[in-house]
Amino acid sequence: MNMKIAFVGKGGSGKTTLSSLFIRHLATAGAPVVAIDADINQHLGAALGLDEAEAAALPAMGDRLPLIKDWLRGSNPRIPSAEAMIKTTPPGTGSRLLRVREDNPVYDACARAVELDGGAVRLMVTGPFTDADLGVACYHSKTGAVELYLNHLVDGRDEYVVVDMTAGSDSFASGMFTRFDITFLVAEPTRKGVSVYRQYKEYARDFGVTLKVVGNKVQGQDDLDFLRAEVGDDLLVTVGHSDWVRAMEKGRPPRFELLEDANRRALQVLRAAADATYGLRDWERYTRQMVHFHLKNAQSWGNARTGADLAEQVDPGFVLREDAPGAEDAPGAEGARGAGRAADTVATA
Ligand SMILES: Nc1ncnc2c1ncn2[C@@H]1O[C@H](COP(=O)(O)OP(=O)(O)OP(=O)(O)O)[C@@H](O)[C@H]1O
Ligand SMILES: [Mg+2]
Repeated sequence: MNMKIAFVGKGGSGKTTLSSLFIRHLATAGAPVVAIDADINQHLGAALGLDEAEAAALPAMGDRLPLIKDWLRGSNPRIPSAEAMIKTTPPGTGSRLLRVREDNPVYDACARAVELDGGAVRLMVTGPFTDADLGVACYHSKTGAVELYLNHLVDGRDEYVVVDMTAGSDSFASGMFTRFDITFLVAEPTRKGVSVYRQYKEYARDFGVTLKVVGNKVQGQDDLDFLRAEVGDDLLVTVGHSDWVRAMEKGRPPRFELLEDANRRALQVLRAAADATYGLRDWERYTRQMVHFHLKNAQSWGNARTGADLAEQVDPGFVLREDAPGAEDAPGAEGARGAGRAADTVATA
């Protein structure tokens, strides 16, 4: 089953660590995985075993927005140019949709293959955040590229997209937090850890977001009792201190099969929980929510920013779905490819 999975939580709670373990777990099982680092602190590459130079050489999605937008808009007549497209612009007739397993110019420009001992995964990163990214400037948002990717993704069975991200106001304003089949909120057994959970739960309430808490650095009964008391049935599983993780942090990752049994079982619980949400999938709701957040963003800053009425980008009859027709043959495909190459050259020059 394809699943879109987010790991969120307080800074330092273990989002990157648990994302990386989960990605390794899926790769070991032979599942196709796209791993995305959308966190303020970009550490997923390192957690997947890249050295500093390799991690620094990863292309930043945030720098390749013109290419991404040009490819995605395809021949959609409601979106005349990449400049007219904002991070919430939804796909419509003529848009190009993306798949987990295919090759396309977006992956060519933004994804790199990372070899794990279980198999290879595709890794994409937003790129490092600056102070400007953390303010109210929605149009600067580094995660805009990830939102566009998720909103144009038609994922089939047995594929996984795993996103390591911040539980920040940015993802609430744009609607990014509604883009996942399941959201794992990583929480240490502390008051701060569970306060992020409460805030998330509050935002999630009206949008049918499936939210599960993964306790991390849980040592003993008192920690477990605390989390149970604070988050109740939303507590899915807990992970204790891992010597395997510690060894990896020292730059000496043991083979993944040597991960502690209890932690391996926790990863199996995460996968089972993710797979179980497949039945809850509702493409119509998914499409409706992206339109809802697009109209909200259009009004609050997008229309002013682009000088256009961005509500007109909404294709009322369009529903994103697994069997949606591709737009590979759409006119303009070559043009977008050419533009992509040029943009890529500029970005890496
Ligand atoms: N279960 C664990 N066992 C051992 N060490 C852990 C565990 N979970 C997290 N850590 C360590 O705690 C530190 C913080 O973890 P991590 O970087 O995954 O958190 P994060 O939520 O991604 O943080 P940030 O907000 O900075 O991105 C790391 O040094 C990591 O190795
Ligand atoms: Mg992190």
